[in-house]
Amino acid sequence: ILPFGLLGEVDAHFRAYLSQKSINGRCLSENSRSSSSGSISTDEGLYEQQEPQVQSIAMQRILQRRSLLLREKQQDWQESPEGQKMLELRRSLPSYKERDALLKTISQNQVVVVSGETGCGKTTQLPQYILESEIEAVRGAACSVICTQPRRISAMSVSERVAAERGEQLGESVGYKVRLEGMRGRDTRLLFCTTGILLRRLLVDRNLKGVTHVIVDEIHERGMNEDFLLIVLKDLLPRRPDLRLILMSATLNAELFSSYFGGAPMLHIPGFTYPVRAHFLEHILEMTGYRLTSYNQIDDYGQEQKWKMQKQAQTLRKRKSQIASAVEDALEAADFREYSFRTRESLSCWNPDAIGFNLIEHVLCHIVNKERPGAVLVFMTGWDDINSLKDQLQAHPLLGDPSKVLLLACHGSMASSEQRLIFDRPEGGVRKIVLATNMAETSITINDAVFVVDCGKAKETSYDALNNTPCLLPSWISKASARQRRGRAGRVQPGECYHLYPRCVYDAFADYQLPELLRTPLQSLCLQIKSLQLGSISEFLSSALQPPEPLSVKNAVEYLQIIGALDENENLTVLGRNLSMLPVEPKLGKMLILGSIFNCLDPVMTVVAGLSARDPFMMPFDKKDLAESAKAQFSARSYSDHLALVRAYDGWKDAERHQAGYEYCWKNFLSAQTLKAIDSLRRQFFFLLKDTGLVDSSAENCNKWSRDEHLVRAVICAGLFPGICSVVNKEKSITLKTMEDGQVLLYSSSVNGGVPKIPYPWLVFNEKVKVNSVFLRDSTAVSDSVLLLFGGNISRGGLDGHLKMLGGYLEFFMKPAVANTYLSLKQEMDELIQKK
Ligand code: CDP
Ligand code: MG
Repeated sequence: ILPFGLLGEVDAHFRAYLSQKSINGRCLSENSRSSSSGSISTDEGLYEQQEPQVQSIAMQRILQRRSLLLREKQQDWQESPEGQKMLELRRSLPSYKERDALLKTISQNQVVVVSGETGCGKTTQLPQYILESEIEAVRGAACSVICTQPRRISAMSVSERVAAERGEQLGESVGYKVRLEGMRGRDTRLLFCTTGILLRRLLVDRNLKGVTHVIVDEIHERGMNEDFLLIVLKDLLPRRPDLRLILMSATLNAELFSSYFGGAPMLHIPGFTYPVRAHFLEHILEMTGYRLTSYNQIDDYGQEQKWKMQKQAQTLRKRKSQIASAVEDALEAADFREYSFRTRESLSCWNPDAIGFNLIEHVLCHIVNKERPGAVLVFMTGWDDINSLKDQLQAHPLLGDPSKVLLLACHGSMASSEQRLIFDRPEGGVRKIVLATNMAETSITINDAVFVVDCGKAKETSYDALNNTPCLLPSWISKASARQRRGRAGRVQPGECYHLYPRCVYDAFADYQLPELLRTPLQSLCLQIKSLQLGSISEFLSSALQPPEPLSVKNAVEYLQIIGALDENENLTVLGRNLSMLPVEPKLGKMLILGSIFNCLDPVMTVVAGLSARDPFMMPFDKKDLAESAKAQFSARSYSDHLALVRAYDGWKDAERHQAGYEYCWKNFLSAQTLKAIDSLRRQFFFLLKDTGLVDSSAENCNKWSRDEHLVRAVICAGLFPGICSVVNKEKSITLKTMEDGQVLLYSSSVNGGVPKIPYPWLVFNEKVKVNSVFLRDSTAVSDSVLLLFGGNISRGGLDGHLKMLGGYLEFFMKPAVANTYLSLKQEMDELIQKK
């Protein structure tokens, strides 16, 4: 009886808690999601209602007067000496020649697709042309232009630039709005915002009342938010015949977007770039005289790379056989030893411990010493490797010398003061080196770049629908991206581009990157569709530009049902609604919610932050044993990588308080950088949960039961289910099995990897990776009762579904004892239902 009673209690508690803590209506309109890998993001902030509708003649007069004022102000600026200078500068941009044609086409068509070389003036000029022409026609006060950007940093920097071009402060006629921040005033007529902000607005204002123009920028990137927004806007256009939609992209694929909107007219802004010479790895090694060392590690490493390439070929084959065979051909063609030998460096450049950094350092030295003046733009995969590389370069006698080199980082989370430096030209023969993510491919233009160093990778989420496994890993870029990166070197004079991979790898790249919608798990997106009340998920997604595979949609819906975010009829549950407000994957959101319900949020936030960031446990190639035993100490028989992380983090926080953080990290093979990232994520989670009303300021949620590791384990299980495998301890070994894959293995870096026995019947895991066998990365051991009570869906209509599903697992794994408990519970419940 006890488990049944307890189960009922958990369920009741859960529901009572959620309905009491989240104030439903408020949550939906005020709170938010923000960008996180692979999840749809809607940025924070209640979008205030726009200007009231024109209601009376008096109102029209007021509008007229305000429009006249706006025109007067614009004319004053344009006639001033500074304004003249600015106009001259703006008129030198290629987009200026097309100004009239653009405005005419926009006025005559509801949808227009505009393409043009990066830097030709799409983002800063086109929205301004519209605004200016409306102001000139004395309609200024009645117009409202919204221009979306995929990244918050571009929304902020572009709005600042446009305001300056108009001789204004931000928040006058030009403003911006991104998650948690914004600057706009009563007279703001041109608003730059993230795509997520516009999606959020559509939640409360389905017809975009008062908006006259929507400009969706950087659509060629095919981000999930942008593709999603296009479906919603396509649906909206017939209801708002006066609304104008302008799609802007780099010089790619304009036809695709045009035909999606029934053959919308396309306008191309011709641009000019100087030729750029491409050097591939073979040539770079020769040219710079770089020598690779230590043959003995190559075989291991080569083998691992070969698996990775084969895995990539496999995934590609499912997408498009022709690319897959190209990768395979590349593998065949190159003698693999030679191949791995040559690419070793470039393939590993995302790893802070890898020698890849040395090659980049070497190439940079070569440029600084031997090449003509000009800024260098280095494309890296993400802010963490940018930071590590920057640390390494700063310690270099030449590259770290500020009288010779100005070293800058350019990524989504940099400060705006640093941002401005990127556009400046340093004085006195100092060479500017900018380490950037792929945002410098199209959304930011560094005019004086003459040299580009391209590591060939970008961090992208990918998703394998067949194995139902998502991953966020640096992966090869497309040919289009490589070309785009190369083009960045030819803005002001002929340039050079160093591709740190062999030609054969380039030849195997896909032509274009797959849209995010087709390469990420759709769970968060499906939650979003439901919370925006857009009807049937599969129907909605089938009208996308390139609809995702039905199997991916089915997997996502099933997953959401299993974890209890959707009910059998695909309706959002209370849990689902709460999850849709958290900017993390549903499984992580569920952990956060349960962590606050069970008052053990502190360790749970660490676990969730650890799962969203990279692993802080470092495993250097040559000191693997030492590193593994350091990690094992943290685990101390907890049989949990996640709890080991909690302990490592807590220890680091303690050490930090005594200014001993770095020594602590050094001794324990931990990355201080990642721990800091975890720290900041934890803070963000806390504020978010506070915002949604899930935690109160008493901090009881955080700590009351934090020391109870059984409870924390249970919450981890609730989040990671159905990522579960059974443990069978044999005499000398352990056999692990999952339902989908059969036998699986553990990575040796897991604390459960080398142990002779795991005294628990189950492991829950976050991620599995298929190489030649299926490997589990991080895992936590759990007991039968924890699985029974926390695995799966406890908030969904009664216990029946929950037990039925769990029963399936238990029967499959033939755990008779648990199956019996389950059966008696089920029987008892049936009887109860009968009685009712
Ligand atoms: O959007 P698109 O790539 O077509 O060009 P843009 O971002 O509108 O930039 C037009 C020009 O303005 C480029 O030459 C940029 O270098 C310059 N710009 C700038 O100087 N400062 C900024 N904050 C943004 C753009
Ligand atoms: Mg642009």
